[in-house]
Amino acid sequence: MQNHIIIRQIKESGHLPQIPKDFGEVLNMLLEPCEFHMDDCIEKLSKIPEFEPALIQVLNHTSRLNRNILTLKDAVLYLGAKNTRMIAIAYITKLLLPNKSGRAKIFNNKSYWKHCIGTSIASYMIAEKTGLCDKDKIFTYGLIHDIGITVLDICLPEHLDRIFVMKTQQGIHQIAAEKIVLSGITHTEIGMWLCDEWGIPDEIKEVVGYHHYPFTNSNTSNEVRIMYLADFISANYYQKLLGSKISFNYSDRVMELLNINKELIDEIAIILPREVERINNAINFEFL
Ligand SMILES: [Fe+2]
Ligand SMILES: [Fe+2]
Repeated sequence: MQNHIIIRQIKESGHLPQIPKDFGEVLNMLLEPCEFHMDDCIEKLSKIPEFEPALIQVLNHTSRLNRNILTLKDAVLYLGAKNTRMIAIAYITKLLLPNKSGRAKIFNNKSYWKHCIGTSIASYMIAEKTGLCDKDKIFTYGLIHDIGITVLDICLPEHLDRIFVMKTQQGIHQIAAEKIVLSGITHTEIGMWLCDEWGIPDEIKEVVGYHHYPFTNSNTSNEVRIMYLADFISANYYQKLLGSKISFNYSDRVMELLNINKELIDEIAIILPREVERINNAINFEFL
């Protein structure tokens, strides 16, 4: 993968932010907080550029505490591991965006970010209903599942605009358009490559790499299956945000494997727009 022309272009663009090697380790700690000392985790979090002031500002901006949060340690102890993990991933995903409007000219990363939040919420609700995986973890994975798209937005924005036009104006499926523009690969391979580069835990890498291909092998995890379905629900929500009337059909087999019915999917689709707005406001770094 390192030698693929698109990966080479991403590296040569010079736009990909340098994330400390510690980031993957911090995520591992936040995924299994009982196995690590919180002070070690806080120490590593403090090395992520600008993370401490961002976290503190978000907290003081959104919480109704009658005291100010002053340090990273205050913030992490107040939030707990699972909320810190969510905010760390949201922050790192948005850190990739070069400025508030992104580099792509036609593709709109703000709307796309809402698709990611929608995927998180839908996956959380499926996990809650089925009990098949940890709902807090899967929520975090939803935020990062399309990290490959974000990489394109910052490093190869013209490619992403071409894909977006092919999809919205010519009705070509996203994955097919990506294979044409990206010399045979898609945002999933780019996302997996980035997970390796940043030392992101394997469980997340699997979701990033296979959320469009839940039948790639018989050992596909419940996390991947849930993300596949959540991604579809949120893709239909995103289509409406874009003003499109096209909606996508998902595999009934995945529904069977997860033992869920169409009513649940419809229920999630109804509440998604309101919930996305609520969460988007809670983890909004744009005022920084
Ligand atoms: Fe995707
Ligand atoms: Fe997606």
